[in-house]
Amino acid sequence: MNDTFLRACRGERVEYTPVWLMRQAGRYLPQYQAVRANIDFLTLCKTPQLAAEVTLQPVEILGVDAAILFSDILIPVEAMGMSLEFSEREGPVLGEPVRNKSAVDRLIIPDAEDDMPFVIEAIKILREKLKNKVPLIGFSGAPFTLATYMIEGGSSKNFIHTKKMMFQNNRLFNYLMEKLTLTIISYLSAQIKAGAQAVQIFDTWAGVLTPLDYKTSVLPHVKKVISELKKEGVPLIYFVNDCSGILKEIKKSGADVIGIDWKIDMADAIKQLGKKVVVQGNLDPCALFLPREEIEDRVKDILWKGETANGHIFNLGHGILPETPVENAIALVEAVHKYGSKD
Ligand code: CP3
Repeated sequence: MNDTFLRACRGERVEYTPVWLMRQAGRYLPQYQAVRANIDFLTLCKTPQLAAEVTLQPVEILGVDAAILFSDILIPVEAMGMSLEFSEREGPVLGEPVRNKSAVDRLIIPDAEDDMPFVIEAIKILREKLKNKVPLIGFSGAPFTLATYMIEGGSSKNFIHTKKMMFQNNRLFNYLMEKLTLTIISYLSAQIKAGAQAVQIFDTWAGVLTPLDYKTSVLPHVKKVISELKKEGVPLIYFVNDCSGILKEIKKSGADVIGIDWKIDMADAIKQLGKKVVVQGNLDPCALFLPREEIEDRVKDILWKGETANGHIFNLGHGILPETPVENAIALVEAVHKYGSKD
């Protein structure tokens, strides 16, 4: 079995730096588009055979060292009781935004097996199909990132409703965060029980907060998620987009691996996190539009800096973009394997 990724997560010795790409199953792949031509995105997420099929596409096409379950961070939000749609133009659109106590009261803490059985089923199919070729990563949104979608009702520019609730009714904000925390713990535990060999927690929007607000209103919930999941015994990866202003706080999360976006130099990130940490990242997704030699130069630079940490998993600093040429994604994976070799 290629367990290079799992060993790197644990800070163990590896023969080469493993690599996978956030959003590696997606619209830049013609094979994904072929599946999507006949089915809408949410139905695809809820059809285990097809979700498993698109999960495997980048493993075959790119040769990455890990598979990540094809799903979306908003699946548990729907299971908590909010309606969810994906519009081609606006992205996710949720029902009536959650802005008062009775709305939070109404949210349920779903049982993954009963309320999201398709996720559990997809993981089981994938473990069978992967035959231990590469490990399978499960994932969830982090409490704050999911809270923003619930409070805003969709994507947002300045998160005004979220911050208003945080500042004007912190008790209500905390009540919502607590419900999300319990949901995420139970959802990720169920994914691990079904066969996920590592889990990533996506905190896409936590970087919009001041360090103090992150520390007081968000970090305690992240710590709870991570400390509870530690009992499951699989590596936990915590990714915060725009992490540079809050790395010192993120370090306290307890995660085994910290995901780094591309807006900070890898050497600076490691300096702030300390050398005991395992890092993941941090290539600019747009670097995949550069000529091949320049992609290689950037790969070498990040690999070289990543060596100073206790472990490094190569990744992009955020999700791969739909316009990305597939051959450049393949070239990236090849370059990481070539220049990240420890022999
Ligand atoms: O990494 C993977 O390949 C696994 C699959 C995955 C998707 N979404 C598939 C997806 C993962 C891990 C996610 C996480 C996710 N979803 C995040 C956190 C990570 C991040 O990018 O910051 C967020 C914020 C979402 C919410 C979301 N889902 C948005 C805002 C959108 C619309 C914008 C967009 O990129 O299309 C989605 C849709 C989505 N999620 C697609 C895919 C492949 C595109 C759907 C399509 O086929 O049209």
